[in-house]
Amino acid sequence: MLMTTTTTSRRFPLRALAAASLLAACSGLAQAQAGDALKIGLILPMTGPFASTGKQIEAAARLWMAQNGTTIAGRKVELILKDDAGVADTTRRLAQELVVNDKVVALAGFGLTPLALAAAPLATQGKTPLVVMAAATSSITEASPFIVRTSFTLPTAAVAMADWAAKNKVRRVVSLVADYGPGIDAEKWFAERFAAGGGTVIDKLRTPMRSPDFSPVLQKTRDEKPDAVFVFLPSGQGSVFMKQFAERGLDKAGVKLIGTGDVTDDDLLADMGDVALGVVTAHHYSAAHNSPVNKKFVEAFQAANNKLRPNFMAVGGYDGMHILYKGLEATKGEGGQALLDAMKGQSFESPRGPVTIDPATREIVQDMHVRRVEKVGGVLFNVEFDAIKQMKDPAKAGK
Ligand code: DHB
Repeated sequence: MLMTTTTTSRRFPLRALAAASLLAACSGLAQAQAGDALKIGLILPMTGPFASTGKQIEAAARLWMAQNGTTIAGRKVELILKDDAGVADTTRRLAQELVVNDKVVALAGFGLTPLALAAAPLATQGKTPLVVMAAATSSITEASPFIVRTSFTLPTAAVAMADWAAKNKVRRVVSLVADYGPGIDAEKWFAERFAAGGGTVIDKLRTPMRSPDFSPVLQKTRDEKPDAVFVFLPSGQGSVFMKQFAERGLDKAGVKLIGTGDVTDDDLLADMGDVALGVVTAHHYSAAHNSPVNKKFVEAFQAANNKLRPNFMAVGGYDGMHILYKGLEATKGEGGQALLDAMKGQSFESPRGPVTIDPATREIVQDMHVRRVEKVGGVLFNVEFDAIKQMKDPAKAGK
């Protein structure tokens, strides 16, 4: 009897304690679910004509996390990947869901200019930092004070290309660009800078952003007999363009091909064939960039991705994760304005070379390399031979 009483009286408080601690654990768990994981919403075109951009950036973001862990300030970092298929209305809806429902600490990705512009108002309304890892029209960072960019801008690459062309006896050029934001930036900044260097753009041609047919513009270019054609096309279209350039006999007719590096994209270059040999472009990243940091990056990326060669999109994704991680470490996991401020001014060595996030413009400051397609070990690469060091976006001069 005594034993039973004792047992009962001992068991009751134990049970009460267990219940109380379960309750505490549950409410702790609820709190953990709401506030613990640091969620990064990564919106990319994973399907559709621009899927290679999504594939490259996702692979780079996952590589960064594999190399740098998934805990910051004692909290788990969670990547939430969403496919917008390159459609702006989808990007907008996904960005809204990620901000409102998932309470992400940051939005990231954005494979094309219209997609970044569609999400910009949500970054502003939600005070959510948005890292543009791909899209490259200059005006994007002006669409929201919460946008930071780790890719590049077309005015930067176009100006670097124009300077090289003007100095290297190229005089008459036809420009050929995709007919939307980055193409229009490239066309304008190349023409102005090239004219200042003594050259002339004799014709400005454009092709649609989606499913372009290059034959009419290539025929026109051939008839006009320029020294060179200056090209901007979004990542993924370079191979088809290069094939038609050769089929129309422009290389044989002595028309040089120059452009921003998007046309000799590392994602496709190895399979472009000899028509690509000698093409000169200006860009911020080449898989052949000669530095220990890049060699390590390329090796790790290829090892993790069935030998896929990283392109400039991958580097935009990798560096985007870099500034998010360092930013979150500095704020101990706080998002919003604190995270935005912690990303501004970061300086580090990227696989592309030294970079800084300009605190005034939230653009990346980086070397723009002039490169020529050559065979290295029998395989085509963009071999860097000249650089304009630490270029700021020329469209934001004085800002
Ligand atoms: C953009 C897309 C690209 O694929 C690229 O190479 C450059 C710019 C853009 O839409 O901004």
